Amino acid sequence: MILFAVVAVVLSIFVPGAHCESNSIAWCYHDPTCNESRWTSIAPLYCNGSRQSPINIVSASATANASLIDFTFQGYSNTSAMNAMLNTGDTVKVTLNHGVRISGGGLSEAYDSLQFHLHWGNGSSVPGSEHTVDGKRYPMELHIVNSKSSYNQNTTLAVKDSEGLSALGFLIEELNDTSGQPASWKILTNYLSNISHAGQSVSLAAAGISLDDLLVGVNRSNYYRYLGSLTTPTCNEAVVWTVFKDTIKVSKDLINLFSSSLHVNDSTSPLMVNVFRSIQSAQPVSTQPKASTSSSTNTSFSLGLMVLSLILRWI
Ligand SMILES: *[C@@H]1O[C@H](CO)[C@@H](O)[C@H](O)[C@H]1NC(C)=O
Ligand SMILES: *[C@@H]1O[C@H](CO)[C@@H](O)[C@H](O)[C@H]1NC(C)=O
Ligand SMILES: *[C@@H]1O[C@H](CO)[C@@H](O)[C@H](O)[C@H]1NC(C)=O
Ligand SMILES: *[C@@H]1O[C@H](CO)[C@@H](O)[C@H](O)[C@H]1NC(C)=O
Ligand SMILES: *[C@@H]1O[C@H](CO)[C@@H](O)[C@H](O)[C@H]1NC(C)=O
Ligand SMILES: *[C@@H]1O[C@H](CO)[C@@H](O)[C@H](O)[C@H]1NC(C)=O
Ligand SMILES: *[C@@H]1O[C@H](CO)[C@@H](O)[C@H](O)[C@H]1NC(C)=O
Ligand SMILES: *[C@@H]1O[C@H](CO)[C@@H](O)[C@H](O)[C@H]1NC(C)=O
Ligand SMILES: *[C@@H]1O[C@H](CO)[C@@H](O)[C@H](O)[C@H]1NC(C)=O
Ligand SMILES: *[C@@H]1O[C@H](CO)[C@@H](O)[C@H](O)[C@H]1NC(C)=O
Ligand SMILES: *[C@@H]1O[C@H](CO)[C@@H](O)[C@H](O)[C@H]1NC(C)=O
Ligand SMILES: [Zn+2]
Repeated sequence: MILFAVVAVVLSIFVPGAHCESNSIAWCYHDPTCNESRWTSIAPLYCNGSRQSPINIVSASATANASLIDFTFQGYSNTSAMNAMLNTGDTVKVTLNHGVRISGGGLSEAYDSLQFHLHWGNGSSVPGSEHTVDGKRYPMELHIVNSKSSYNQNTTLAVKDSEGLSALGFLIEELNDTSGQPASWKILTNYLSNISHAGQSVSLAAAGISLDDLLVGVNRSNYYRYLGSLTTPTCNEAVVWTVFKDTIKVSKDLINLFSSSLHVNDSTSPLMVNVFRSIQSAQPVSTQPKASTSSSTNTSFSLGLMVLSLILRWI
């Protein structure tokens, strides 16, 4: 999750691809002087904390919580909700217009959806999701960042609240073809060539796609929930995480565009690849209770059938 990456203005101390936080901490993914192995030193508050993200989600260890009801999504079907797409030097970020929000989902109040951005590896063959599920890392991950509506989009206030932000994580799986699918992702990725240098942005006013279009194929009733942090410095422990169980399926050609179109600075700088944080200490994870059908009865019923068929084979 990337909240405040802005291009450093003091070029004399500019580290390639490094970016200033609101509190001036320069960090990056690719350079040893500012990469992840340095984050606990350059931002010990809070990157060295004990409630850090991302995590590996162990599906079998997720506890049932009936409060994890459906979300209500406001403005997610609006084809004018996306404002601009920006190359921050660490990710590609899409800012959202006011009026996009989420509620329900076991959250304590409504949260405004501020932006989404992505994490990736190096093409479809080197996966770069942040969360992993049962040890599996996916090609990419999309994060929608939301801030408690009562803070009026003031993220300085939100990061001081242990649940001030709510992040929605969508794992992206590869469609093994080069068909430019889904159409919404084809349209979105068409803009990557307009922002190949850090600091460049392009308006999405004419894109004509909605958030719902991008989240195609995901049943948003089924998700994992845990309390964690921002995944970039200063790693504030202020995030209610939601990671959806269904994946968004995107064709290989479009996934490859992320790692081949964007530079961490100007065109002489490296391509933006492997923009994800590694797995942090496990946290308690919850999810929806299993549907209240008699699955245990059916299990024993099928076990009974198995035993019966084994016996039958012996006679
Ligand atoms: C980053 O790009 C800017 C603009 O092209 C350039 O002035 C600066 O020197 C670059 N920084 C590094 C560290 O390469
Ligand atoms: C960061 O740089 C160090 C020193 O080169 C390297 O050993 C390490 O693998 C890098 N870490 C990441 C996450 O890239
Ligand atoms: C990080 O925290 C651990 C203990 O939780 C401590 O031993 C270590 O020195 C800390 N590292 C930094 C860079 O603050
Ligand atoms: C869609 O978003 C645009 C831009 O924020 C806004 O002007 C418009 O009122 C929204 N439409 C609906 C139906 O909410
Ligand atoms: C279940 O989820 C609700 C809503 O997020 C939360 O307030 C509550 O503490 C959770 N219950 C348990 C036992 O974790
Ligand atoms: C990314 O993959 C390309 C080939 O697909 C390779 O040339 C490049 O060295 C890789 N970059 C990194 C940082 O691994
Ligand atoms: C956010 O709130 C803080 C503390 O009240 C205030 O100092 C700051 O100016 C606010 N920021 C914005 C952008 O309104
Ligand atoms: C992907 O498609 C190619 C060509 O159609 C095929 O050779 C390859 O086995 C497929 N890979 C997977 C993982 O399905
Ligand atoms: C994006 O770049 C293409 C050429 O690469 C250009 O035709 C198009 O107008 C640009 N789009 C925007 C919205 O600037
Ligand atoms: C989404 O999942 C829920 C719970 O598994 C199920 O009841 C519902 O029918 C699903 N919705 C769709 C559109 O498949
Ligand atoms: C369990 O088995 C019964 C009888 O075969 C069937 O009617 C029911 O739908 C099954 N339930 C589930 C959850 O599979
Ligand atoms: Zn993120």
